[in-house]
Amino acid sequence: MRILILGGDGYLGWPTAMAFANEGHDVCVVDNYLRRNLARETNSEALMSCPNLHERVGLFNATFGRKIDYHIFDCTDFARLESLVAAFAPETIIHYAEQPSAPYSMIGFPEAQRTLNNNLGVTFNAIWAIIRHAPDCHLVKLGTMGEYGTPNIDIEEGWLDVSHNGRRHKFLYPRQAGSLYHTTKVLDTDLLWFYVRTYGLRVTDLMQGPVYGLDTNESAADKRLAPSFHYDDIFGTVVNRFLVQAVAGIPLTVYGRGGQTRGYLNLLDTLQCVELAMKSPVERGELRILNQFTEQFTVNELAQRVRDAGKRLGIEVRIESIENPRKELEEHYYNARHSGLLELRLKPHFMTEEVLEKMLSRIMECRDAIDPKKVMPRVSWRS
Ligand SMILES: NC(=O)c1ccc[n+]([C@@H]2O[C@H](COP(=O)([O-])OP(=O)(O)OC[C@H]3O[C@@H](n4cnc5c(N)ncnc54)[C@H](O)[C@@H]3O)[C@@H](O)[C@H]2O)c1
Repeated sequence: MRILILGGDGYLGWPTAMAFANEGHDVCVVDNYLRRNLARETNSEALMSCPNLHERVGLFNATFGRKIDYHIFDCTDFARLESLVAAFAPETIIHYAEQPSAPYSMIGFPEAQRTLNNNLGVTFNAIWAIIRHAPDCHLVKLGTMGEYGTPNIDIEEGWLDVSHNGRRHKFLYPRQAGSLYHTTKVLDTDLLWFYVRTYGLRVTDLMQGPVYGLDTNESAADKRLAPSFHYDDIFGTVVNRFLVQAVAGIPLTVYGRGGQTRGYLNLLDTLQCVELAMKSPVERGELRILNQFTEQFTVNELAQRVRDAGKRLGIEVRIESIENPRKELEEHYYNARHSGLLELRLKPHFMTEEVLEKMLSRIMECRDAIDPKKVMPRVSWRS
């Protein structure tokens, strides 16, 4: 297949590019280094140094005898994107190219505006490039479980059957995001649904939970091919922060009461999910929404898992509750359906003690590079 990956230098985009190229697909990636630039601007650089796309692609191609093609440009530039889509004629576009940090989107006006314009701009351009040049192309778009928020009812897989005054209709599941970033994902989904039902696009929108993992099959061959690893409060996930805090001897910072429940998944499962979605494209005029996570637990449970894994490595891990910088429920009902990808034969890799131990060991190799100032919250939802 010809696969175009938007955001191919990112945490998920780069491993996806390598995995698909190694399966023999024609892979072309685009990135404008937005993530690297924002990390530099906010003093949130990755823990391990990460070669740029030019170097990574050269290294990968030489190591595996494959050829990933790459382009450095901003996907909000429609002329550039549409000419690439016209020339490459992708059968699948995987769209990762967004500003993915909730705290970044809540810093202030310029950051919120940049997040809104970038995320909606890339989605809109991808849609129009497909309409004009590749109408049969399957768009696989990364959304987030955060689109749903934490409603007091079960979360369905994208859609809800509503009965009202004796009549029924199927609607997009009601969404109420907790940050401007997550709200741009809600708007993306609405935009996609409009163009799917109006122009007959084929789209799979993957509602993904936080992803963890430091390695893939390809990076096992050469560490320099590893995905980026951010551990700060802006670009690091709660899993990464806790692991780094454990290694650095800083108490794990649980925000508020720690009852926030989320659905998590292993990076290896993101790769599987995207591949499963790609290999079973939807019909034209269909928007398929799949909830992409494999297990759910609270922040307190996550902290305890990290503490237990640390103990096995001889690290004493303390857990501390700090004032929650976010506006969110700290204890709530949470039961999200996630059967769609299992029905497509996803084989989950769970967050076992061994998995956490392996990540802790890798981080211990870079202990000296940890900057403790980066792990405490610098962005508040209140200001
Ligand atoms: N990593 C997670 O835990 C997670 C969870 C849920 C959803 N997601 C979603 O998955 C996608 C990928 O996430 P990630 O963790 O790999 O993020 P990332 O920031 O590492 O990757 C996104 C990549 O897209 C690029 N990009 C952004 N805007 C661009 C533009 N206008 N033109 C060209 N390139 C652009 C960035 O430079 C970056 O390399 C995002 O849409 C994110 O919202 C991620």
